[in-house]
Amino acid sequence: MRILLIGARGQLGTALRAELSAEVISPDRGQLNLNDPAVVRLAIEELKPNVVINAAAYNLVDKAEDDPAEAFAVNAFAVRNLAQSSEAVGATLVHVSTDYVFGLEPHSTPWQETDAPGPAGVYGASKLTGEYFARSACSRHYVLRTCGLYGVAESAGKGNFIATMLRLGKERGRISVVDDQHCTPTAAVDLARAICQILPTEQYGLYHATNSGATTWCRLAIETFRLAGLAVEVQPITTAQFNAKAKRPAYSVLDCGKLAGVIGAPIPAWQDAVARYLRVRGDLAGA
Ligand SMILES: NC(=O)c1ccc[n+]([C@@H]2O[C@H](COP(=O)([O-])OP(=O)(O)OC[C@H]3O[C@@H](n4cnc5c(N)ncnc54)[C@H](OP(=O)(O)O)[C@@H]3O)[C@@H](O)[C@H]2O)c1
Repeated sequence: MRILLIGARGQLGTALRAELSAEVISPDRGQLNLNDPAVVRLAIEELKPNVVINAAAYNLVDKAEDDPAEAFAVNAFAVRNLAQSSEAVGATLVHVSTDYVFGLEPHSTPWQETDAPGPAGVYGASKLTGEYFARSACSRHYVLRTCGLYGVAESAGKGNFIATMLRLGKERGRISVVDDQHCTPTAAVDLARAICQILPTEQYGLYHATNSGATTWCRLAIETFRLAGLAVEVQPITTAQFNAKAKRPAYSVLDCGKLAGVIGAPIPAWQDAVARYLRVRGDLAGA
């Protein structure tokens, strides 16, 4: 099997390179820029991959509010081109989306794939449009919505939440963290493993794919400091107090039961994943 992996140097892409056992072609952005549709089309025509995995995205949630054209170019229109090009060579498309397709409507129980999405910001709107293009233009597609991704590579321009907490916690000793956004942080390595597991099933469709359980950013920070053995004072604050540019979902926990049914088990609990991540980074206390 030949896999074309786009976004291979990002958090998820780096984890996928380690987990995939097939032949993986992983061009960087300089070699294959999603914003150049002709180059992407030609690459797929020439390489004839069996599978195209799109781990690339415009991920700067606040910046997207001022830069909708770029967010939609990468997260929506480039995905349409990818999906059409994949379909043309009979390839399966794996596309990754986000919990931020929700957020417009209040909610208090885990979102299912059948629930109507409604993004609260530009990033979520661009990703939701990308989902629709992937699903409508490529018959063999897996579209996986994930949440709060963190990996050893760290996302360019924003790192990830846990890495940021460790840095700020060490620098300042006290920190204020939003405690009214409910979500499920997800380890890139666990999502990469789930992708490897679902690929051969041919159970195409839309899936929710996060670690198990739910928390808030504040409780994630507290658990991170506990596991790292760092004495950091954590002050819970509200979304309104934090005052970020883009609106974010107050509740974006995803029900991943559909995926668990197909791959045979749920993705591990978020607490377990954080501990493994800290161990790999060398930040786990006593390890
Ligand atoms: N990070 C999160 O918290 C989060 C949460 C929910 C869902 N997701 C979704 O999960 C997926 C993976 O996210 P991630 O955190 O692994 O992303 P990431 O670490 O930010 O990596 C994104 C990758 O996309 C590449 N890229 C960006 N624009 C490109 C373009 N025009 N052409 C080609 N490549 C381009 C980047 O290349 P460079 O290395 O050159 O910058 C980078 O390798 C994305 O679909 C994202 O929307 C992420």
